[in-house]
Amino acid sequence: MEKKPLLVTCGLPYTNGPCHLGHLRTYVPADFYVRFLRRAGEDVVFVCGSDNHGTPIVVMAEEQGVTPADLSRKYHAHFDDIFRRMGVLFDHFGMTDGETNHRRTRSLVKALQDHGYVYSQVIQQSYCPVCQRSLPDRYVEGLCPHCGALARGDECDQGCGKHLEPGEIRKPKCRICGTEAELREQEHYFFRLSAFRDMLLSYLPDLGGTSNARNYAIGWVKDELHDWCITRTLEWGVRFPGKEDLVVYVWVDAPIGYISFTEEWAGKTGGDWQRFWCRDGDIIHFIGSDIIYHHCIFWPALLSGAGYHPPSAVVASGMVKIDDQKFSKSRGYVVWTGEDYLDRGLDPDYLRYYLLSYTSHTKELNFSWQGFAERVNNELVSTLGNFLYRSLYFTTQFFGTVPEGPVDPEVLDHIQKTLDGVEKAVRDYEFKGAVDGMMALAAYGNTYIQNQAPWKLVKTDRAAAEAVIRNCLQLVHALTLLMEPVMPGVAERAWRMLGHADPVAAHGIREGLEPVKAGALPDPAPLFAKMESDQVKGLDDLLKKRVKEAKMREQERTGISIEEFARLDIRTAKVLSAEPVKGAKKLVKLQVDIGDGTRQVIAGIAEFYPVESLVGKDIVVVVNLKPAKIFGLESQAMLLAAGDRASLLTPLSPVPPGTKIR
Ligand code: MSP
Ligand code: ZN
Repeated sequence: MEKKPLLVTCGLPYTNGPCHLGHLRTYVPADFYVRFLRRAGEDVVFVCGSDNHGTPIVVMAEEQGVTPADLSRKYHAHFDDIFRRMGVLFDHFGMTDGETNHRRTRSLVKALQDHGYVYSQVIQQSYCPVCQRSLPDRYVEGLCPHCGALARGDECDQGCGKHLEPGEIRKPKCRICGTEAELREQEHYFFRLSAFRDMLLSYLPDLGGTSNARNYAIGWVKDELHDWCITRTLEWGVRFPGKEDLVVYVWVDAPIGYISFTEEWAGKTGGDWQRFWCRDGDIIHFIGSDIIYHHCIFWPALLSGAGYHPPSAVVASGMVKIDDQKFSKSRGYVVWTGEDYLDRGLDPDYLRYYLLSYTSHTKELNFSWQGFAERVNNELVSTLGNFLYRSLYFTTQFFGTVPEGPVDPEVLDHIQKTLDGVEKAVRDYEFKGAVDGMMALAAYGNTYIQNQAPWKLVKTDRAAAEAVIRNCLQLVHALTLLMEPVMPGVAERAWRMLGHADPVAAHGIREGLEPVKAGALPDPAPLFAKMESDQVKGLDDLLKKRVKEAKMREQERTGISIEEFARLDIRTAKVLSAEPVKGAKKLVKLQVDIGDGTRQVIAGIAEFYPVESLVGKDIVVVVNLKPAKIFGLESQAMLLAAGDRASLLTPLSPVPPGTKIR
């Protein structure tokens, strides 16, 4: 019987900024899944592409003074490059602004129109009287009508996460100029999502993938289904058939990209795209849990309304956080895959391992450099790397070639059980379970080699030492084959050390039970390198600095609140004594009366005032800053002075020391 082919896709990255670690939680597990299934003998097609339309891209292009098309091409190339460097290898990586997708989107929308699922309606749309334009999606900011959180355009991204329809946002403001938006009547087109309630309620319970996707979606459908406005007043996008001054909403042409990219793949390879989208092939979407609604409700309804075959599974990851904070470029909680990781020479495989093994796929992943380094050092270096290297090292050291002879049935049994367990976990989308299974086999090997101590045995019983090493090499062989979907680069290096010349990916996972290749082995090298604590600190400092800078930018943008200002304890103070600081030409040491006590102040004003002239002066100080050590002396308040020559502030009419400044 012919094997049923499988199409795997990943949520398409927007081309409005670089790849960050959050993105990778969609792409790395999908790539792992594809590599594993291929090596278990399945026929898998793996496609993706960049999502070029929508207002985030138009807004960003405007900010940078380039066209949305240029911006899209730039970040398309960026993602393409990062994916290759991360070992995420698509069979095709297209663009939603490509010709195939324009054509496929228009044809699909026409089918929806023909089937009666599209209607027009006049709606109240936000309009900026200053910019003189409509404010679709990201052009408008306001409050979420559901939860009251600050919301941007078509989603409540800081609050409840709900999708917002045009006109729904409360207190809309123009995001470009900040003017309060007006509401204007405009004719738009709607997709009759509400007509798909029964279809979805029968489709969703059988939807494969992770239970979070299925369960959220069923809950939402039971709750309420609103029709979706599928047109926007924009220049950039796919023209709406029949009303060419509108474009389709980005969430229409983006998922249709999945079809277009399969078509483009088929065009390159002679493959059959219709098998997946028009007949019975299996389609699996990998996404993050932020876009479950779009993939489990909107998308299957759209496909079914247009006469296409809906996906068989949706695999939704939990979201990635950074230092326990929600990912946010504007707040600085972001780790860039290129700039912060790959460009610093860090190994892509370590990150793949970390993302896959951190926790169950549907749970949140809280990234920290410290946690990352611990996983690398304790698991990859100490367990896996240690076992692989010791086994290979003792082989070359004592024997030069792979010892011949049978493998202990207990060892084979362990490999067999690991293979079964790992394969089951992969098929259940339990990626952590799969990687843990592999690591358990390495831990077993470590204990085995430690207990058998072949380095001692070889001195007393060479044949027995050969048997031990033979068993170890069988485990190394099986582990190398298992490692490839997780860490393709490391696995390839290990495969060379086992004496192979062909790629490890050319071999099935189950070959781990077959005998190890006979013959001489090259000298091994360690497969993993420890992360040193100063390197980890450097990376962590970089992140902290980014957060701090973002906070300052935010304060510059919004100003500090009156409450924040009120927290500053600024008072007048009388200088009781002043003396130079020995060895520091610029510093003076003052004792000042702040009303309810005295404080020592170290200030850099010695060049501008004769020290004795300061005594008796009324000055202004901030008293609730954290104390600072200056030249080894504690400064318990900061005096206020203007300009480069430190002109001291002083009250115009006399006030008692300690008078509060307001
Ligand atoms: N363009 C849409 C997807 C359209 S699919 C037809 C989009 N783009 S994205 O660039 O924001 O995200 C790309 C992928 O990365 C999505 O699968 C998304 O869920 C995932 N993630 C982006 N940030 C994420 C985290 N912080 N954590 C986990 N996954 C996240 O959404
Ligand atoms: Zn909300």
